[in-house]
Amino acid sequence: MDIFQRLFIWLFVSCLSLGFALGQSFTTPLPIPPLLEGSTLNLRIHEGNHHFFPSVSTPTIGMNEMDYLGPTLLFKKGDSTHIRVANDLNEMVTVHWHGLNVPASLDGTHANMIPAGKVWKPDYLINNLACTMWYHSHRHGMVMNQVNRGLAGMIIIQDDVEAQLPLPRTYGVDDFPLVLQDRAFEPDAKLKVQMMGNRHTMNGAIEPVLECPAQVVRFRILDGANARVYQLGFSDNRTFHQIGTDGGLVEAPIPLSRVTLSNGERAELLLDLSGQKVGDTLYLMNYASELGDGVIGGPKVFDVNFNPLDTTDMPLLKIVVGAKKSQAITSIPSSLVPIDFIPASASNNYRKKVIDPEVAGEPMTIDGKLYNMMRVDDTVILGSTEIWEFENQSSVAHPMHLHDVQFQVLDRDGRTPPANERGWKDVVLVHPFENVRIISRFLNFADSNHAYMWHCHNLHHEDDGMMYQFIVIDTVKKQPVDTVITSVEPLEAIKVHVFPTPVQEQLSVVAEGIGEKTELIVLDVLGQEVIRQKALGQQKIYTGDLKDGVYFLLLEDDSTGRFVVQKIVKGGG
Ligand code: C2O
Ligand code: CU
Ligand code: CU
Repeated sequence: MDIFQRLFIWLFVSCLSLGFALGQSFTTPLPIPPLLEGSTLNLRIHEGNHHFFPSVSTPTIGMNEMDYLGPTLLFKKGDSTHIRVANDLNEMVTVHWHGLNVPASLDGTHANMIPAGKVWKPDYLINNLACTMWYHSHRHGMVMNQVNRGLAGMIIIQDDVEAQLPLPRTYGVDDFPLVLQDRAFEPDAKLKVQMMGNRHTMNGAIEPVLECPAQVVRFRILDGANARVYQLGFSDNRTFHQIGTDGGLVEAPIPLSRVTLSNGERAELLLDLSGQKVGDTLYLMNYASELGDGVIGGPKVFDVNFNPLDTTDMPLLKIVVGAKKSQAITSIPSSLVPIDFIPASASNNYRKKVIDPEVAGEPMTIDGKLYNMMRVDDTVILGSTEIWEFENQSSVAHPMHLHDVQFQVLDRDGRTPPANERGWKDVVLVHPFENVRIISRFLNFADSNHAYMWHCHNLHHEDDGMMYQFIVIDTVKKQPVDTVITSVEPLEAIKVHVFPTPVQEQLSVVAEGIGEKTELIVLDVLGQEVIRQKALGQQKIYTGDLKDGVYFLLLEDDSTGRFVVQKIVKGGG
C-alpha cells in the first residue's frame, strides 16, 4: 500500500468514525488544568466521565475537579512540600514524580502502593531547577492502563533564577501546559488500552483551539503518550525557540522549526506572535511523516500497526491570535541560564547497557533481562559521577529514562548531540543501532532498601519488563536497616521491619507506632487481600500458603488514617 492508498482508507474510515460524525474540528477550547499550589497539596484520584466527544462520555480517571488527567502542581525550588494523594478508585495506584530528585522511598513506584481508599502522604523538598515535569501512575504492569485512562498531570517548578528572566510565566495567559497523547477509542467512545491511538488529544481534548495573545507565549509540552513520538512544528513552518529541556532551561533560546519529543520528554518553547494580527490562525502540527527509521509514531516502523496518525502530518492544536495583554513579553531573550556541564573526564564509573535485538512476539529486553522487583540491577556509590552508554541493537527507537537524577547527553554515536539536547535531561531517545552516552552525578538519597527505576518510557515496553532498578548506597555511612515509607508527622508514623526477605514459611513483623485498631494486611500484586489480622507490634505470620512472588504488607489504622506499605517477597531468593 502506498501512502495515498493509506490516506484514502484513513479518510474513509474517519468519515465514519465518531469524531467526524460529531463534527469536531478545532472548536473545543483547549482545557487548561487548574494550578495546585501551596505547602500542602491535596490530590484526589477518582473515576471520571470525560467528554472526548461532545455528546458521549468516556469512563476515565481524573484528579480533583478534572475528570481526565490532573491539576498542574506548582512547586518552588527549596520549598518543602506535603502531598496528600487520596485514592478513591477501586484499585491500587502509585503516583511517580517524573524528573524530581526525591528519596527512592517516596518516588512513587512499588514501594508506594496506595491501596483503594487510602491516602499516601509523602513530604519532600523541591531540589530541582525551574522546569516542566509531570506525575503519573507507576504501578508496574498497569502503567499504560492507568495513564491511558488519565492518571497523569503536569508539574511546573519555579526558581529565583528563572523568575529574573524576561519570560512569559502567567499560567493560562501566556504560559500554557500542553499534554500530548493519542488515544484509541472503541466505536462507543470507550478507551482501548493499546500503544497507538487513533485520535490525537491535547490536555484531554480532541482537535482543540487556543486563543493566544499577540505577544511571546510559552508552551510547556509533554509527550504523555503511551508509545507515540511526536515531530512538532507550526503549519507556516515558522521558527520558534526552545528554552527548556526536561530538567531545566538551556543557556540561550534555540531557534528551531521542528522539535522531536519521545515518551516522557518535555520541551519548553517560545512562540513569538508579537507581529501577528488579531484573528490570525496557525496550527501546532505533528509532522509524523518526517520521523525516521524505527521511531514509533512515524511511517518507518514495522513492529506496530500502521495507523493514519503515523503516516499523515496532522494538526494538533489551532492557535487563534487574540489581543495583546498588558505587561506582555514581546521579544525572545538572548540568553537564559549558565549550565554546569559535566565533562566526561569527571566520570568515575561507566556502565554499558545493550538494548537487545527485538524478537517477534517477545517483550523487549536489555542485557537479556526483564524487570525483577527482587533484583537490584545497578548499585551506585553516593557521590559518584557516572557515564551510562545505551547501545541499541534493536531496530526500534527507545526513550530511556532514569529516575532520581537529571543527566546530560554526552554524545550520539560519538557526535555532539543537537543544541536542544545540551541541557538537563531525564529521557533520551536512543535510535535504532545507535549508541548514546549520558553522564550524571548521584549526590543524594542513599538508601540500600529502596530502589530507583531506570527504564524505557514506552509504556508498553516498560509494563512488559523493559525496566531495571538501581540503588544508591553510601559506603562511608552505615545504612539504616529500614526506612519509613510514609511520614506525615514523622514521630507518629507507623514504621515496620520485616524479616527474612525473601520469606519462606514465616514472616516476622515488628511494627512501631501502631494503635489498638491497627490491622495487618497482606496484598498480592493485584491488590487482593490474602491475609488480614490484628497488628500486634511483634508477631509472626504464616506465609507457607502463599505462592512465590511479590506481596505488599499493609499496616493500617482507620482511626488515625495512618498506614505503611512494605514490599515482601515470597520464595525465589
Ligand atoms: Cu515517567 Cu519511571 O517514569
Ligand atoms: Cu520517572
Ligand atoms: Cu522501548
